[in-house]
Amino acid sequence: MIKLGVNIDHIATLRQARKEGHPDLIKAALLCEKAGAGGITVHLREDRRHVQDGDVKGLRVALKTKLNLEMSAAPEIVRFALAVGPDDVCVVPEKRQELTTEGGLDVAGQKKKIRGITGLMKSRGIRVSLFIDPDPAQVKAAADVGADCVELHTGKYALYFGTKKGRSELERIKKAGRLAVKRGLLLNAGHGLNYENVRPVAKIPGMQELNIGFSIISRSVFVGIEKAVREMNELVKGKR
Ligand code: PXP
Repeated sequence: MIKLGVNIDHIATLRQARKEGHPDLIKAALLCEKAGAGGITVHLREDRRHVQDGDVKGLRVALKTKLNLEMSAAPEIVRFALAVGPDDVCVVPEKRQELTTEGGLDVAGQKKKIRGITGLMKSRGIRVSLFIDPDPAQVKAAADVGADCVELHTGKYALYFGTKKGRSELERIKKAGRLAVKRGLLLNAGHGLNYENVRPVAKIPGMQELNIGFSIISRSVFVGIEKAVREMNELVKGKR
């Protein structure tokens, strides 16, 4: 059954606003698991603006489900990931000034580098996902470099949800998803998904996992994190 991976970066954003240790990231992660999350995702950014090295190490020990580490291809981050050994890594592009990950990873344009990272991770038993735009050339490149999985970028779909452009972006995601499955890749998706737009993406055949952060953490301010996760999990699993 399709899994909900809860991205808790923005619990850490809140904590870093005061740097006094709360809200506690591990406690938040465990509540997400209790509410039905199939995994916890964090992005250790090169500038450490939210999640810190110690958070990733702490989550590695505390989680009962699985830890998915979003990471750039920077050598320092790759070394850290190999040392900590999350269950999954998701390689993303990263720019210092962006507010959040903009656009997918250009796997086709840097196959040698991504193949190297993929090989290193897989040799340690870490599952490798590549965060790409729903573009057939990128899906093929992901399969060529030996990735286990692709996470299709749903940011554009989310931005244009409810419009013709949004519908055509959903078609692009479906088509890229079909190709990924055909090439033997596991299929994940994420970015910008919320309580209104998640259903059509969750229904895509072969979809394994959706990684969702901002909308859940935002809703948790009003209803609490367990309820926010439970509601999203029901939507993802088609129970709502
Ligand atoms: N997947 C990836 C690869 C991401 O970089 C992000 C944002 O950190 C997400 C999913 C979650 O996006 P959002 O916070 O918009 O739900």
